[in-house]
Amino acid sequence: MTLTTLIKGGLVVTAADETEADVLVEDGRIAAVVARNSTAAASLTADRTLDATDRYVIPGGVDAHTHMDFPFGGTFSSDDFETGTRAAAWGGTTTIVDFAVQTKGHALREGLDRWHAKADGRCAVDYAFHMILSDVNEGTLKEMDALVEEGVTSFKMFMAYPGVFYSDDGQILRAMQRTAANGGLTMMHAENGIAIDVLVEQALAAGRTDPRHHGEVRKALLEAEATHRAIQLARVAGSPLYVVHVSASEAVEQLAAARGMDLPVFGETCPQYLYLSTDNLAEPDFGGAKYVCSTPLRPREHQAALWRALRTDDLQVVSTDHCPFCFTGQKELGRGDFSKIPNGMPGVEHRMDLLHQAVVDGHLTRRRWIDLACTTPARMFGLHPKKGTLAPGADADIVIYDPRAEQTLSAETHHMNVDYSAYEGKRLTGRVETVLSRGEPVVERGSYSGRAGHGRYVPRGICQLLN
Ligand code: URP
Ligand code: ZN
Ligand code: ZN
Ligand code: ZN
Repeated sequence: MTLTTLIKGGLVVTAADETEADVLVEDGRIAAVVARNSTAAASLTADRTLDATDRYVIPGGVDAHTHMDFPFGGTFSSDDFETGTRAAAWGGTTTIVDFAVQTKGHALREGLDRWHAKADGRCAVDYAFHMILSDVNEGTLKEMDALVEEGVTSFKMFMAYPGVFYSDDGQILRAMQRTAANGGLTMMHAENGIAIDVLVEQALAAGRTDPRHHGEVRKALLEAEATHRAIQLARVAGSPLYVVHVSASEAVEQLAAARGMDLPVFGETCPQYLYLSTDNLAEPDFGGAKYVCSTPLRPREHQAALWRALRTDDLQVVSTDHCPFCFTGQKELGRGDFSKIPNGMPGVEHRMDLLHQAVVDGHLTRRRWIDLACTTPARMFGLHPKKGTLAPGADADIVIYDPRAEQTLSAETHHMNVDYSAYEGKRLTGRVETVLSRGEPVVERGSYSGRAGHGRYVPRGICQLLN
């Protein structure tokens, strides 16, 4: 029999409710959520009590888009599963869904096995996998059915990066037809990579080599066009679609139009698109390289449309697309040629806090914060109600959150294995205080008590937003 834990005195916030309640944890699961003024609350006892007075008690975060140890542009993202999931835990994220990669010319199974080997025994919090399709062919299509059966139920394809991850429209349609039949969810990197590569070549030929040109060639219209095309292909195939890392207001319009037609089309955005902009890409002395990711950061004017879409449910999920590369030695690969800067930004540690700041700033309600960061990602990717909520029977992945604590983000104090912060000096109100993963404390009042290997692989069910 493991220790029982009682979390007492807090405001329990879920996507559905806010209740003054105490939470009882037994055997790694939530045993009860009991309203404070009830007679049952008075008689609750446990081996250990955690005081949550003046704190929120919220579900552990579910980050549905991370890239640990990810190969890109001749290097690997600088967080591996050990350092990346430790940073996730620090930030109140207790489940990540990372992307296993199929290498061109090889089987999905080989890629998935490789990602299991990278993660096995190293994670501080629980993890699951999506599969990146780099080579859609007859063999790949057959393998997709088997993956769905064993809990890898979503497949990312790229309309960008010709010659690397790119799939053409025929390949995309075939894979979508397969997911229409097997229950999988197609995830799309929606940017017209063929057109972008023409603009990259022209920019470089004209001597426009700085990081800010990364943002200029990857045009919002080319994100919107690809988003539109992905939606039409999904309609033809009869498959659901999830568009990753949406950044352009014109792409949001495409999603909103599709959802207005009751199509099963979903979208995520990421904190970097909500808080950062092309101003960052223009930072001097090659500093803009820190902010090179795709889709790119946009002019500030796009942010209002993203916030609105998060409120109106035209976007349903906020994930990080955590894909860090150190400035020294990695981002620097693209000095003199922005197209050689490895694409991606760090973020897994600060998603819960940056979205809480959105509550403080009035962009989101508390419940919507939890919905976007925990509950809907869990439902979208077949992890609910084990993950993403606080209810009897759910895994006891719980965060005690101090909504009044002040913090300043910095590379000096963060726990991600990367030599800069995309939010250096940014002040936030709210901070993760204590984190339980399946009932085990991994962060306790601001000190780390987790361990590599505590995190378990979680096979997933199919998308739970399709009625
Ligand atoms: O720039 C990014 N987003 N890097 C990670 C790979 C991807 O496209 O998600
Ligand atoms: Zn092979
Ligand atoms: Zn992508
Ligand atoms: Zn990504």
